[in-house]
Amino acid sequence: MKSDRCQHYGVDPSKLPRHVAIIMDGNGRWAKKRLMNRVNGHEKGSETVRLIVTLCRELGIEVLTLYAFSTENWSRPQAEVDALMGLLKRFIVSERESLKDQGIRLSAIGQKKRLPLDVRQEFDTTVAYTASNQGMCLNLALSYGGREEIAYAVRKIALKVKSRKLSPENITEKSVADYLYTSNIPDPDMIIRTGGEMRLSNFLLWQSAYSELFFTQTLWPDFTEQEFIEMVKDYQNRDRRFGKVLCSSNDGSQQQF
Ligand code: FPP
Repeated sequence: MKSDRCQHYGVDPSKLPRHVAIIMDGNGRWAKKRLMNRVNGHEKGSETVRLIVTLCRELGIEVLTLYAFSTENWSRPQAEVDALMGLLKRFIVSERESLKDQGIRLSAIGQKKRLPLDVRQEFDTTVAYTASNQGMCLNLALSYGGREEIAYAVRKIALKVKSRKLSPENITEKSVADYLYTSNIPDPDMIIRTGGEMRLSNFLLWQSAYSELFFTQTLWPDFTEQEFIEMVKDYQNRDRRFGKVLCSSNDGSQQQF
């Protein structure tokens, strides 16, 4: 099925990104342009979420991380925060069966404890309900901030040092990565930001070291499957060197060093 869908979209199944992460920006502007309430933009944005989740699953992407709510978003007007939490809860409940049927496992990164209790409970129910699915991981960044995540990891490492279970000279990049929320998922190969801004806004700061970045003017509610596919094709043509150089060998082929 994986290569069927890739073939249908003209995507090379052997060069798929394992992990795609998306900053879904532009809901408010989408609504404003239509003289609507910002919340209507978030509602329309939820429909785009459904489309892109299904597309990623069909293509065979392993992990899709969506920046649904940042640590900074708590400072938005209370009515908008409440509406976003309500929308999130509705999504988690209404998509429960569909996620299960599609073989998608739900997970989250961020300060889950800060979410309202009812949202947390519905979230935990869907996580448990989809836990055995192997098709794709839908990872929601909820009350997530990259700096907060790194501070959280440093606190945990400091406690290990304090209790003499870890010595400072043994702290490596791997040990830091092991204490991040993303310890069990690969770094994102692609990070997409819709809505025209060209910044990462505190998203996956550590994990984005070698991610390929994609920016589009398209507002999230207008983002389409076709545009996503075009980005994946662009990704497949990029030369990912991870700081190394490509050298030509005698037989004319290229080797990474
Ligand atoms: C940024 O747009 C978007 C958000 C802060 C929330 C994203 C939420 C959704 C897409 C819907 C709910 C999520 C799920 C997973 C069902 P913005 O409001 O900053 O837009 P603007 O820059 O145009 O004001």
